[in-house]
Amino acid sequence: MNEEEAFLKIKEGVRLEKLLDVSQYKENYIKRRIAVRMRSLQLPKYVEYFAYLQEHKAEYDILLDKLTINVTQFFRDPEIFVELENTILPDIMMGLKSPLRVWSAGCSTGEEPYSIAISIEETAEKLGILNYDFEVYATDLDIIAIHKASEGIYEGRTLDNIAPQRRTKYFSTDGRNYKVRDQIKRSVKIIKWNLMDPYKKNFFDIVFCRNVIIYFTRELQKTVLGHYYDSLKENGILFLGKTETMLQDYRDRFNCINIKERIFRKI
Ligand SMILES: C[S@@+](CC[C@H](N)C(=O)[O-])C[C@H]1O[C@@H](n2cnc3c(N)ncnc32)[C@H](O)[C@@H]1O
Repeated sequence: MNEEEAFLKIKEGVRLEKLLDVSQYKENYIKRRIAVRMRSLQLPKYVEYFAYLQEHKAEYDILLDKLTINVTQFFRDPEIFVELENTILPDIMMGLKSPLRVWSAGCSTGEEPYSIAISIEETAEKLGILNYDFEVYATDLDIIAIHKASEGIYEGRTLDNIAPQRRTKYFSTDGRNYKVRDQIKRSVKIIKWNLMDPYKKNFFDIVFCRNVIIYFTRELQKTVLGHYYDSLKENGILFLGKTETMLQDYRDRFNCINIKERIFRKI
């Protein structure tokens, strides 16, 4: 078996063992991520690493973890949360009758969906709306990340963007770890879901899919953006990551309402 065949076998192994079709991710990205794992095992060749995978099936879990980059933070890119709280949420909340539903797609360890829930609570308070009814659906493929999200316990730099008064209001602490309070936790539903599959139809007012599709091939980006389009209600709002762009194919389905912050409205 040559190196290229071994690389294909590794991808096929991930598909069969972990049910993730990584051939739909950008090839350079997959190669870089596999290389990280191969370096730490000191196996410089795909052929060697594939042989190792065949002997150690549990290695597929570790590889999957390496393939999914979980970098995230509370209020990541704070300016988009300013936009959310000052413009997008008041607009929706003032006119909305049914519960507000937001989807954090590719939520990683939970910082994004909890930040969204805090933003909604704060906006409701500012608008003088009592007991505002909302749900944040937080989905990710990575079960280790999902588990951490469900625990809702954090420490370190991930909390850097949370102002002190918000920390006190929405977290309990033992001085080292910060635990999301129940008032926020109960509005966030954490679910394992592969974005390659369609999700709820015509259901969400807002979809956050930030720093996820950047790793996908153009074809998969097209599929996933189609899923977001279908899952948003009419006039629903889509947030992409700062380095992600709307595909040309979707420019007649989403209006860009803030180019700098990558915010779009379903037409
Ligand atoms: C870099 S994190 C982004 C987290 C958060 N959205 C943010 O911007 O801070 C990317 C997340 O996307 C998830 N992901 C990648 N491919 C996925 C897929 N096919 N289905 C669901 N989640 C996926 C990864 O597991 C990872 O947790």
